[in-house]
Amino acid sequence: MGQKHMVEHASWIYPSENIGEVCPVFRKHFTARPGAAAKLEITAFGVYEAFLNGQRIGRFFLAPGWTSYPARLQVQTYDLTALLREENELTVTLGKGWFAGRISAGVYQAIADGPRLLAALHLTDADGTREYATDESWQWAESPIRFSDIYDGEAYDARVTLENWRFCRTDSCGKQMLIPQEGEIVTEHECLKPAAVLHTPKGETVLDFGQEVTGYAEFTVQARAGERVLLSCAEVLDADGNFYTENYRSAKSRIEYICRDGIQTGRAHHTFYGFRYLRVDEAPEGWQAENFTAVCVYSDLQRTGWIRTSDPLLNQLYQNIVWGEKDNLLDVPTDCPQRDERLGWTGDAQVSIRAITCTFDGKRFFSKWLRDMAAEQRGDGAVSHFVPNVGLFTKDPALFCGGSAWADAAVICPWQLYQAYGDKELLREHLPMMQKWVEYVCRAAGDSCIWSTGHQYGDWLALDAGEGNYTGASRKEFIATAFYAHSAQLLAQAMDALDMDGAAYHRLFEAIRAAHQNAFPDCRTQTECALALHFGLAAAPDRVAAQLAELVRSNGDRLTTGFVGTPYLLHALSENGYAQTAYDLLLQTEAPSWLFSVKMGATTVWEHWDSRKADGSFWSTDMNSFNHHAYGAVADWLYAAAGGIRPGKPGYETVLFSPIPNRRLQRFEVVVNTPHGKVCSCWKWNGPTVTYVLTTPVSAEIRLGGEQHNVAAGTYTFVRGGYDKSPYEAKDFLNVRR
Ligand code: BGC
Repeated sequence: MGQKHMVEHASWIYPSENIGEVCPVFRKHFTARPGAAAKLEITAFGVYEAFLNGQRIGRFFLAPGWTSYPARLQVQTYDLTALLREENELTVTLGKGWFAGRISAGVYQAIADGPRLLAALHLTDADGTREYATDESWQWAESPIRFSDIYDGEAYDARVTLENWRFCRTDSCGKQMLIPQEGEIVTEHECLKPAAVLHTPKGETVLDFGQEVTGYAEFTVQARAGERVLLSCAEVLDADGNFYTENYRSAKSRIEYICRDGIQTGRAHHTFYGFRYLRVDEAPEGWQAENFTAVCVYSDLQRTGWIRTSDPLLNQLYQNIVWGEKDNLLDVPTDCPQRDERLGWTGDAQVSIRAITCTFDGKRFFSKWLRDMAAEQRGDGAVSHFVPNVGLFTKDPALFCGGSAWADAAVICPWQLYQAYGDKELLREHLPMMQKWVEYVCRAAGDSCIWSTGHQYGDWLALDAGEGNYTGASRKEFIATAFYAHSAQLLAQAMDALDMDGAAYHRLFEAIRAAHQNAFPDCRTQTECALALHFGLAAAPDRVAAQLAELVRSNGDRLTTGFVGTPYLLHALSENGYAQTAYDLLLQTEAPSWLFSVKMGATTVWEHWDSRKADGSFWSTDMNSFNHHAYGAVADWLYAAAGGIRPGKPGYETVLFSPIPNRRLQRFEVVVNTPHGKVCSCWKWNGPTVTYVLTTPVSAEIRLGGEQHNVAAGTYTFVRGGYDKSPYEAKDFLNVRR
């Protein structure tokens, strides 16, 4: 468990009576002399909010976060010195959260049959040193939070006063899973006011925040006791402009608040919501839209990447991608933040990690999550399709475990962290997990090297198998074997990087490649072409690239790829001589395309290319999130190909510039704050010439067309295609900060 915690001496506590859905509040009184110092160590099975003398402790919303609880539970440490008085009251409310709520479907029952609190307060003053650790002397009462669940929302009764305090029970559930805080904390960020108040054809009153967010609603009202604020959440309005909630499926996302007398402010405490619209189902007379706020909640990742272009639609797409990333970085990389999933789907994370680690410093965030993945990896090497591994997986292990492209996150994600941050120790730590996964597939594929078993999602949500099909037309064994090859190759490269002997895995890659070529002499879909090219599997890359370009062209310059092919599609084109075709896809505004959703008013990235059709109807209610980050993976192409910034050596120890200008964009600017400093790439057309301004904090290789320059740290301007009298001035963009 590493470092010792004071909470080792504490006991897990819980209410001495069953209070059903109501969240308990715990308290401890203590005195402190002037000049005292205090430190609190605290964690929970469930999610807690702690207060000292009524002041919220720390900024962590939904603490202690979500980890693989049986193996790992984060303990937070807070310095309370500034909040101390002579007479002190520490109070903590506790919700079911991920531990005991509907999302975990009872999988953590074996550890504890409900939420539990563990805390120790360490006080030093003139009287010496004292410790107040949770035990039977702590008291509990019913809190005003009458109901709380990640999927189903929260109900709060402000009339409830804290009374009838009783002593706690203690529980002997273990402490072997305690670890120090590893990830970034989840906390409040932007606060948005309604951009409009809508009155729908059905007569509903709807607040439109103008942006789809993850977080909670905060509202201030003047009321009489017993009056209520009842709100419903939605991502979109339907084709008629009415409030639409069907795509939340079974997630109730309740926001219920019963008022006391006077002016008061309500908000969520132990849950979160994904929404752009709030329907005001009930509110005290005289409520004002301006007193409602959408408070954004997500992990506290440092922003590191920015893109700006001359094309407003493309800029909006990029903004949507960044919002979609933020909205889905809530302690684990979720698939979506609103419906009855919100799980750390491994496939989705694998798809987006290259883009996310350009936009944000994801090192701590993903390292924590990968440790949970490793903790949950099965003995045979299988990796579950969502981490932490809850609910569905336990009911049918075969169904939610060990599928290609999803479980390959076990290799792709550590490798990408190494590319982005250059941390060899982290790579070394994850190597056993990477290797065990490849060995698992090796056994599943056997001597043929063709992997044709197991639960496979195929090219999830691809469009090439017709309406209503979830898995696309690409052959599942084509995809599975391609990812097997890719993971074997990345593993071999990881071993090389760590000065280990990766030769066996290089040979394995070659064997799988040969088998793949043999079994699949032809590609049949855009995704198959993209994988064959990007994973280096194609025997005749030129022919496959031409085929891919033709598949795109004959489809009206439009894509058909799903989760698996989309991240590689533009790379496969631009790296094989079809940059124009890549731009055709990028700038396409008719469905299916990235910019179609932008044209339709999206503020995040949709799960399905057809989430909403041109006539405003929806493709389905079942699998139709408007805030899925997966297709936002295209931002990786914007950073690395269009803007042309890549690590030359892992962690950007050196930089490789290979920007791809295109006439349909007048200007393109990218900044990435790397571990070695700020890297910038800008290009701009001036009549027939293009001017590049490239800044590197380390030595770099610059590739422009056929040219290659090796340069030291500095800023370099190139004008190509003619003489340019007014070199592009990039100053204002370079000053962009978080
Ligand atoms: C999720 C996905 C996930 C998929 C698995 C969906 O329900 O929302 O994003 O990857 O299932 O195919």
